Amino acid sequence: MANEIQDTSRRRFLNWFLGTSSGALLVSIFYPVLRFISPPEVPEASTNQVEAGATNDPELLENGYKIIRFGVEPVILVRVADGDFRAFAGTCTHLDCIVEFQKDEKRLWCNCHNGEYNLHGQQVAGPPPKPLEPFQVDLVYKGAGEPQSIVVSRA
Ligand code: FES
Repeated sequence: MANEIQDTSRRRFLNWFLGTSSGALLVSIFYPVLRFISPPEVPEASTNQVEAGATNDPELLENGYKIIRFGVEPVILVRVADGDFRAFAGTCTHLDCIVEFQKDEKRLWCNCHNGEYNLHGQQVAGPPPKPLEPFQVDLVYKGAGEPQSIVVSRA
């Protein structure tokens, strides 16, 4: 009788042990797969202002523009004239290609489908349905003899 009770409790222990071990094994295999398939949402850090370099940046002087990172967004910074800088969202409002500044034509241009914007970001030709989002540009004086610094902010 005592042996039967011991066998029963041993069997229950083995069943419990094998059951939980199998469960733990399955969880350890499938949990990482499930986490990989649906990663947790990571909130994007919002950016409201970036320093875009100096006014005498060679890229700005030579090409008249440069693409800067505004958080995760590309922004096109254009040097229209001495001391006149403008910034717009760098992606075309048609299908999100990166726009460029064409100094000679004085226009922002998207080479994907020949979209064209004026220097105020308004669409003037091609398929873009909306103007480019404008950004505010401020020039910050750093000190005597130093070039001004360009600060781009969300308008
Ligand atoms: S993506 Fe710019 S014109 Fe189509």
